[in-house]
Amino acid sequence: MSEHIIVEREPGLLTLRMNRLDKMNALTRQMYSQMAQELNAANDDRSVQVVLITGSETCFTSGNDLMDFMNAPREGLGGEVLQFMQALFEFKKPVVAAVAGPAVGIGTTMLLHCDFVYASQCSMFKMPFVKLGLCPEYGSSMILPRLMGQAKASELLLLSESFSAQQAASWGIANEALADGAATFAKARETALRLLDLAPSAVQVSKRLMRAPGREELRQVIKEEGELFGARLSHPEAMEAIAAFMQKRKPDFSKFH
Ligand code: COA
Repeated sequence: MSEHIIVEREPGLLTLRMNRLDKMNALTRQMYSQMAQELNAANDDRSVQVVLITGSETCFTSGNDLMDFMNAPREGLGGEVLQFMQALFEFKKPVVAAVAGPAVGIGTTMLLHCDFVYASQCSMFKMPFVKLGLCPEYGSSMILPRLMGQAKASELLLLSESFSAQQAASWGIANEALADGAATFAKARETALRLLDLAPSAVQVSKRLMRAPGREELRQVIKEEGELFGARLSHPEAMEAIAAFMQKRKPDFSKFH
């Protein structure tokens, strides 16, 4: 068990709270693994009807721990990361996310697989995969152009532009932008409690129906992204970008031109 994931259980509701604030909630293998185990267990547990994923009032997550990328590049998006994303992708019950502060990399990608996303005005979303010498992951290269069009998706995925809670809401990545972290948590909780009052199998069947169109194509895209992402982790471009982040300097890609 990792102390970096706080698990809270209430009747019907399971809350997973990322809690590694000294590293901006960067996700380690252990954290992914614990969240995957919790989700897989909750999928078959009749006492859980809704899952809430959140961080703190100032930080959702800065994404994958970059030290992990640097230390074990060949494992890529394998192992624990995939277990977590797959558990989320296959989760039958509704998932609500409450975001405040940075939601970077997989911190944004995971939201594309949640059912309700509430975001504080202080949120900052970013998918800096290309900037890191990597490529989009877990369906984002297919989902984002469909949500917002190719042009805007290119800004987010190729230029790694960050975006706000309002923009996330306008593109359908988030349900609503709220004033602050407290209002965001309150709204996410309110939605979770509303879901708890509904007929559980009607909710699950409806979620499945809504996500069915294009799902096989999405699975194929996820597979291809995973292979490319894994291969890119040991690419010199990614090595340079990750080392530059750790050394707090600008990456120098000039030698690859
Ligand atoms: N992996 C490992 N460590 C991370 C991290 C990550 N993804 N994100 C932040 N950290 C660490 C920093 O190295 C720093 O550690 P230090 O105090 O030992 O130097 C600490 O967390 C605080 O981060 P800092 O960058 O100083 O905070 P900030 O408030 O200025 O910026 C972010 C916050 C999230 C915008 C910034 O940390 C960031 O861009 N992180 C990298 C995000 C990323 O590229 N994720 C991977 C996507 S695939």
